[in-house]
Amino acid sequence: MKYKIFTYGCQMNIHDSEVIAGVLEKAGYEPSETLKDTDVVVLNTCCIRENAERKVYGRIAQLKYFKQRNPNFTIAISGCMVQQPHVVEYISKKLPYVDILFSIKNVNKLPELIEECRRIDSITAALAGNSDLAENLEVKHTSSIKAWVPITYGCNNYCTYCVVPYVRGREVSRLPEDILREVKTLADEGFMEINLLGQNVNSYGKNLDKPFDFPELLRKINEIEGIERIRFITSHPKDLSDELVLAMKECEKVCEHIHLPVQSGSSRILKKMNRHYSREHYIELVNKLKDAIPNISITTDIIVGFPGETEEDFLDTLDLVKTIEFDSAFTFIYSKRIGTPAAQMEDQIDDEIKKERLKRLMELQDSITKRKNNELVGTVQEVLVEGESKNDAQKLSGRTRTNKLVNFVGPKELIGHLADVKITESHTWCLIGEAVN
Ligand code: SAH
Ligand code: SF4
Ligand code: F3S
Repeated sequence: MKYKIFTYGCQMNIHDSEVIAGVLEKAGYEPSETLKDTDVVVLNTCCIRENAERKVYGRIAQLKYFKQRNPNFTIAISGCMVQQPHVVEYISKKLPYVDILFSIKNVNKLPELIEECRRIDSITAALAGNSDLAENLEVKHTSSIKAWVPITYGCNNYCTYCVVPYVRGREVSRLPEDILREVKTLADEGFMEINLLGQNVNSYGKNLDKPFDFPELLRKINEIEGIERIRFITSHPKDLSDELVLAMKECEKVCEHIHLPVQSGSSRILKKMNRHYSREHYIELVNKLKDAIPNISITTDIIVGFPGETEEDFLDTLDLVKTIEFDSAFTFIYSKRIGTPAAQMEDQIDDEIKKERLKRLMELQDSITKRKNNELVGTVQEVLVEGESKNDAQKLSGRTRTNKLVNFVGPKELIGHLADVKITESHTWCLIGEAVN
């Protein structure tokens, strides 16, 4: 039996798909090359914005063709989309050729669900999650160099635009001993980089019986032999403590990069977003980070067109982007999400205005990213070499400690090692260079 997984959305989903693959392979499934030779397709979905959902529906429609040609072809859907009741209802009524809807918390039951749906001809739903978080599931790592390790699940922040707390549930922290054991095993298996995952890693530990916080976790992971680099995503500005800044500064394995979503440069909009910080507080945090870690790279997420965003609010965002000089930014058009408070707000912004604001924001950020990348030309950077470059088979590819993508000329033996790379050229999305050791 062969399987194929399509993954949408954030790193959390990318990691969840590694678990889905691990569970299926343990049950004897093998990965397939093409859809034609596939028995089970799993869609691991995202609903953060409307276009994420649109992509999934497009894929489901394509799969109908395969189902018609092969009745044993199984379509299973998991991820954030199916945690929304209106989506479940829609799929059940309008897309009956879908076989299974399952909560990722039930991933260990997937092989059984596949068996079951072959016996009964209706959608098999396993959507109510186990309350227990599954530990010790098999994980099929997509890389042998860097690994994703979830430290919290869910989110308690209820930013007014965001669907995540509704679909991922309340924030739960994994036990520190489970995380540390997993990282130790990964180090023994040869992984060099650990990426700690959570919707808000800074609030790690809040629900644990024995106090244990995120800076402490970083310090403990920093001691694990074999790990060369530690990264984490995502940090919420409201929970970024002085202790965390100090831990980042003092732990030599923690990379000089933070992804710190600001969302807006207008304190008025930040309040309506329920973000619990002001523009001034954000700037102060960035200054603390830059003082403690002089070459730190700072990246962010920004939403344009949140309900009620005036031209003046938007100019505040542009001004903040100029002030901070982010290394790069993911920029999004606000998308109404069913069930969130912002979807009910008056003053929804016109699509044309949203698009025009996005364009202006992207132009500004691109020019900053380009200039910052250009400053690195002539320097030598430590790159963790991940493999051959996707765009140019003649080159290798990897990232600097500051998380910048570098495509460079060097011997293949460098793959899986740290290399010193001299930067010779810069673009908006990557740096070009040559190995010097
Ligand atoms: N937990 C993380 C990431 C959440 S999703 C955090 O708090 O930063 C990633 C990004 O998607 C968010 O940072 C936000 O910029 C964007 N996003 C979330 N909901 C959105 C919506 N309804 N419309 C547009 N962008 C959205
Ligand atoms: Fe969504 Fe806010 Fe939670 Fe991030 S912190 S997942 S933006 S609710
Ligand atoms: Fe999308 Fe769910 Fe991640 S909505 S962004 S896959 S948490």
